[in-house]
Amino acid sequence: MTVAPKIPDTAAPRPLANGAPAIEVTNLTIAYGDFVIMRDLNFTVHQGDIFIIMGGSGCGKSTLLRVLIGLKEPAAGKVVYREGSLWDAPPETRAVISRRTGILYQSGALFSSMTLAENISLPLSQYTALTRRQIREVVSLKLALVGLAGFEDFYPSEISGGMCKRAGLARAMALDPDILFFDEPSAGLDPVSAHLLDELILELRESLKATFVVVTHELSSIFAIGNNSVYLDVETRTMTASGDPNKLLAESTDPKLRRFLTRGKE
Ligand SMILES: Nc1ncnc2c1ncn2[C@@H]1O[C@H](COP(=O)(O)OP(=O)(O)O)[C@@H](O)[C@H]1O
Ligand SMILES: [Mg+2]
Repeated sequence: MTVAPKIPDTAAPRPLANGAPAIEVTNLTIAYGDFVIMRDLNFTVHQGDIFIIMGGSGCGKSTLLRVLIGLKEPAAGKVVYREGSLWDAPPETRAVISRRTGILYQSGALFSSMTLAENISLPLSQYTALTRRQIREVVSLKLALVGLAGFEDFYPSEISGGMCKRAGLARAMALDPDILFFDEPSAGLDPVSAHLLDELILELRESLKATFVVVTHELSSIFAIGNNSVYLDVETRTMTASGDPNKLLAESTDPKLRRFLTRGKE
């Protein structure tokens, strides 16, 4: 039996107990130049949440995600992780925060000229001191975790879109992040593959005790996996609801939110 090597991880603090705040967003305003996309966002992502950022097309979901992961500076407000305020922290602190976050982009974003193993090896060779052999073991472990055991030497073009997405997830998990960010993970997938990806996310939450922040407008995903959410309203350019999406569906009286959550079928 091979034992998975422990990734040296001296910089990252110990995981939080489930339910503690993982990301606190306060009075956040995001803008492109003078054009405000969203203002006055206030919400908390808790450890172990599958937190959904929802709202219609073009309302600012992807932009908000970019602010949360440190790629776009907000016009005002704070994004506070355990280590401190992301946009006020010194570079070392931001490095620690980004070291324990993983990101799965819309396309899966694998390099097409590299095998799955090579794709997943990238962050490991960049950020750890593991040997080639140890890296190979971690890669196999991550692929097994997403149901792709034995696909190490396949190229992205040789596998399906759903499998590419799962391989992208394996890469996002390479460094054992405790917060994973997804932008429209089921975009471009057939309903069966999309459903399998949802199941996988739920399984990973259980097994890894990770926190997920998921941008999506797929209703089936929202209700199947989300336990917490924020709804961004494109007209008023602010959030108009937050909380468990199933609870919002059962209890909210806001006509716009209801239209969104029922696809206008009410
Ligand atoms: N780089 C950019 N420069 C200026 N405006 C942008 C840029 N990226 C997105 N936008 C605008 O910001 C708004 C929100 O975009 P986005 O965050 O991609 O929305 P969503 O992900 O909810 O569909 C849209 O009106 C979009 O046109
Ligand atoms: Mg988007």
